[in-house]
Amino acid sequence: MKNVTLGTLLLYLSLFVARSLSQDVPPYTEDCRTDAYPPSAKDIPVKTYVLNLDLPPQQRWANLAKEKAPQIKDMINSIINLVGSVVNTTEAIAFVDKEFALLADGLPAPYGDEMKGIATAANIPLGQVVLYNVFYELFTLCTSIVAEAPNGTLYHARNLDFGLFLGWDVENDTWSLSEKLRPLIINVDYQSKGETVARAVHFAGYIGVLTGVKPGVLTLSMNERFQLDGGYIGFIKWLLGDHSGKWMGFFIREVLVDSISYEAAKKSIMTEELLAPAYFILGGNSSGQGCVITRSRETMDNLEEMTKTESGWFVLQTNYDNWKNAPFFDDRRTPGDKCMNRLTQNKVGLAGIYNVLSTKPVLNLLTTYTALMQVNTGYLETYIRNCPQPCFPW
Ligand SMILES: *[C@@H]1O[C@H](CO)[C@@H](O)[C@H](O)[C@H]1NC(C)=O
Ligand SMILES: *[C@@H]1O[C@H](CO)[C@@H](O)[C@H](O)[C@H]1NC(C)=O
Ligand SMILES: *[C@@H]1O[C@H](CO)[C@@H](O)[C@H](O)[C@H]1NC(C)=O
Repeated sequence: MKNVTLGTLLLYLSLFVARSLSQDVPPYTEDCRTDAYPPSAKDIPVKTYVLNLDLPPQQRWANLAKEKAPQIKDMINSIINLVGSVVNTTEAIAFVDKEFALLADGLPAPYGDEMKGIATAANIPLGQVVLYNVFYELFTLCTSIVAEAPNGTLYHARNLDFGLFLGWDVENDTWSLSEKLRPLIINVDYQSKGETVARAVHFAGYIGVLTGVKPGVLTLSMNERFQLDGGYIGFIKWLLGDHSGKWMGFFIREVLVDSISYEAAKKSIMTEELLAPAYFILGGNSSGQGCVITRSRETMDNLEEMTKTESGWFVLQTNYDNWKNAPFFDDRRTPGDKCMNRLTQNKVGLAGIYNVLSTKPVLNLLTTYTALMQVNTGYLETYIRNCPQPCFPW
């Protein structure tokens, strides 16, 4: 991919047109699935890595970074090649190695030191590790669900869809970066004094959190929100020295690890200044505790409480404001809601929600993982997903 040609643009345009025409057309959409759980052999459960918070930050990720170094390097090279398709690759590398390395010292503790530790252990230039961490904050599409069973048990699940527009692989009909991401997915058990304080899904080498559970307290996931005053502006401000906003993945990690209650977490999510607009899907440990918080960088734009939705027992969020219609070219909400309603509250559980998240187009070619969480037991299970062809690109 040496240049973004007219051909590439035409390809993306035709994908958009095809997506809007295929709204209700099999095989790109399907009837609500009831048979996806337990997952087939193609949906691989991910391994768990223990992160010992009592270690100095530079040592925490060392073993993992060593083990996954080849895959992390492969991903970084793809990112640099993408940037290099717009500018000269050699110059891009020199810029990243120098300028992004400087950013590590501006990061709040312990994140700068954790990145330095990863760079050393994986033998990757620090600037490239920082770039790699910035990158995940910007390119994720998703579907998240919080649902309550009749006995009050709360479940939280999400699909993480990654890599839209990041290199369509014509030969294999896949998104090349989404393919490279799958081998990097792991669960991380955050431990202190030998006890689990939180569990989260990570991409090896990315130290922020997008999906996690704090046992007995809360579950949280973030979905990207597109706004004109979007994440890029927040990052540019940050690069220029205005460090008042919080990185998304770090913020979520803090809320997850440090919050003492659902209410406290909700309050920080509603009020803290952030680097990018986003949807936060939050679940608690008591009946009725579920909500979607829609954020701009500096303010809250909307709060949707589970108890006040049409169903009263679930919230489902994709990448569009939930008080407006979903756009015709990417409507995962209507099929998701339909399948939740057809599931009914009586069948809410890990299996039922997994089935909903396995129904096309909620499941699509960008879907890299499905995570299932149950807050009262602190349970997290994550499966790497591959959408069976024919499957829509997003
Ligand atoms: C509540 O319901 C869920 C599923 O509907 C079930 O798995 C769980 O065991 C129940 N919990 C209790 C405490 O009865
Ligand atoms: C297509 O997939 C095959 C097998 O996974 C891989 O070897 C090949 O490099 C892929 N093609 C491209 C253009 O990435
Ligand atoms: C979470 O909820 C369960 C009931 O589902 C309860 O037994 C447990 O004590 C709660 N945990 C906390 C930390 O409140």
